[in-house]
Amino acid sequence: MDKQPDEQLSKLKNKALPALAEVKTAQELEAWRIVYLGRKGAIPKYLRGIKDLSPQEKRSIGKQGNELRHNLEEQYKQKKQQVTTTATTLSEDEEATTGHLHPITLSIRRIQNILTSLGFTSVEGPLVEESRYNFDLLNIPLEHPARAATDTFYLENGHVLRTQTSPIQLRAVLEQRMTPPLKIFSPGRTFRAERTDASHEATFHQFEGLAIAKDITIADFKGTIETFMSEFFSAKATIRLRPSFFPFVEPGFEIDVSCVFCKQRGCRICKHTGWVEIMGAGMVHPNVLKNMNIDYKKYQGFAFGGAIDRLTMLRHNINDIRLFWSGDFKFLRQFS
Ligand code: PHE
Repeated sequence: MDKQPDEQLSKLKNKALPALAEVKTAQELEAWRIVYLGRKGAIPKYLRGIKDLSPQEKRSIGKQGNELRHNLEEQYKQKKQQVTTTATTLSEDEEATTGHLHPITLSIRRIQNILTSLGFTSVEGPLVEESRYNFDLLNIPLEHPARAATDTFYLENGHVLRTQTSPIQLRAVLEQRMTPPLKIFSPGRTFRAERTDASHEATFHQFEGLAIAKDITIADFKGTIETFMSEFFSAKATIRLRPSFFPFVEPGFEIDVSCVFCKQRGCRICKHTGWVEIMGAGMVHPNVLKNMNIDYKKYQGFAFGGAIDRLTMLRHNINDIRLFWSGDFKFLRQFS
């Protein structure tokens, strides 16, 4: 199955590449981008369509689809450089008006594509959250330090700007009356009253995953996240688990990913340890399952959560998180 190229994909490829070869101007290139890679373009449309396939097909076709998308994106970038350097009809100002997606948005889409191809369904939730979803129902007791106003933005009515994406899962399960087996994920914006520096921002992004069924184990978690990391960094990755504590999981772990930049030989990024700290995870705490109306004696599962900003910084070797909100075109244009 894996080896067999999908017919529709091959057709798309055989149309997109010759069409790109014909492109001579920046306008033609933009028209090409809209047809094939744009929000309503052929490739995203195709990738959205795979959600109705069987898990097996989804995996194989999702992978092929994503490969083609990366390939086309690469070729598009190369072509863009060509037309920019040879363009005589467009002034520099006109070129500058062509917009493109923000690097964080690109990462969110990348994460969505990978997790969707692994059978997870995307869910959303509000940025302003009730503290019972952000804390209480997640088994975070009143005296927990994260609840202190120094970490959390509180509104006058007692609501909070969500400090993590974990409440999204809980809310989705309750509101949509989901029952196991379930596999959901949610990328989104999160807020903490941080003093900003090169690695901390008051506004950042997290993504969260939750998988619940009768027999889900930590081994399933490990396989899922190794596949995810390998796809995200386009390089074979392994992970290791270190015991840690989060109130909503038991046991809880801190996840490190093998350094894909130096292949674990040791570099600046992994601080010469071969491992990069990447997210938190664990087996969902029985109290949290109870709060989701799930029978904790019958069902179990894993949850994970990590910062999208950090993943993006690692992938592109960005050394200051504040660049994302700087509005600095010199920085942002590198992602066009
Ligand atoms: N919500 C945790 C955080 O913000 C991450 C996490 C998610 C840990 C899910 C365990 C399970 O740090």
